[in-house]
Amino acid sequence: MDIRLVNLTKIFADKQAEVRAVDDFDVHIPSGKLIGLLGPSGCGKSTTLYMIAGLLQPTEGQIFFGDDDVTNLPPEERGIGLVFQNYALYPHMTVRQNIMFPLENLNVPKKEALERAQKMADLVGIGDLMNRKPKQLSGGQQQRVAIARALVKEPRVLLLDEPLSNLDARLRLQTREEIKRIQRETGITTIFVTHDQEEAMSISDEIIVMDRGEEQQIGKPQDVYNNPNNEFVAKFLGTPPIAIFNGQIKDGNVLIGDEVIGQVSGLKDQQVNIGIRPEGYVVKNDGALTLDVKIVEHIGRDISLVVYNENVVNKTFRAIVDSDINVKEGQLIKADVKPNKCYIFEKETGKRLL
Ligand SMILES: Nc1ncnc2c1ncn2[C@@H]1O[C@H](COP(=O)(O)OP(=O)(O)O)[C@@H](O)[C@H]1O
Ligand SMILES: [Mg+2]
Repeated sequence: MDIRLVNLTKIFADKQAEVRAVDDFDVHIPSGKLIGLLGPSGCGKSTTLYMIAGLLQPTEGQIFFGDDDVTNLPPEERGIGLVFQNYALYPHMTVRQNIMFPLENLNVPKKEALERAQKMADLVGIGDLMNRKPKQLSGGQQQRVAIARALVKEPRVLLLDEPLSNLDARLRLQTREEIKRIQRETGITTIFVTHDQEEAMSISDEIIVMDRGEEQQIGKPQDVYNNPNNEFVAKFLGTPPIAIFNGQIKDGNVLIGDEVIGQVSGLKDQQVNIGIRPEGYVVKNDGALTLDVKIVEHIGRDISLVVYNENVVNKTFRAIVDSDINVKEGQLIKADVKPNKCYIFEKETGKRLL
């Protein structure tokens, strides 16, 4: 089931102020995929998800599931399964009763409900815990119960709002792989909300990057990483993060300070922001950029450097270079910039120029 959001807008208004939590969102979510809805806290992810779920009414715009306009349908008629960050299980019920609960309202016969609950529990890997109460389970197991409960109605769409945020690091990794597997096995169109770029990049077929209520970019994680639309997207994706240099375009040259790091055509002379990914440096004696190495960390195959450069917005940044390079703390080294790891942004708007 594909999903289309058409000019979707949510304005929260009270006497003092108006918040455009979701602003003119226009996206197509392809059928059968796992889509990561990614952005910083407060950017409108949950609001978007709850409008798709029917828990919040949009101020403007429409929501389609396939050809069905579901904008005015109540949640229970949309065919969605919803999972929250805090599991929201019924504490006095067993795992089995929790998973079966949605089927009671649908008057599914007891025998069939038991079978469907067991099937879903097996799918999410908790089939042998059916008689336990939620407090007898780990966080990861509780979240699996919540996912089984969301899936037992055989929804058209699965909506997950930061489902891993309450789990510790190891369980978070394990559970996210499980969610990916479950999504693959069921083929259910899934929207996975997270503020964690690494989580979104690793789990999603496509990501939608959001900021301040607006869609910034949609695409395959690697494509968005390699080809960001703007400075916000470039900065939001990637660890270590991209370094942003104050630079300029002058007579077709790209300059950082006095150093020419490349050539461009078709851009007028102007001040720009230049983004360089940490893996974007080639250390060589006649390199264009001077890097003042403060810290050297050997991380297996690579070396991670903390580097000072006065033209970097944050003054220091991280560069990842090959481990066969001989570099010491306190040393000045020269490096060229890989063109495909370097982006030029308009100073005022952050729009990508090149
Ligand atoms: N019920 C509400 N009333 C007023 N403002 C709200 C309400 N819910 C969310 N907001 C505001 O809308 C914006 C988006 O919130 P939300 O969708 O929860 O962000 P996210 O899930 O990305 O962290 C925030 O500025 C938030 O404060
Ligand atoms: Mg949220």
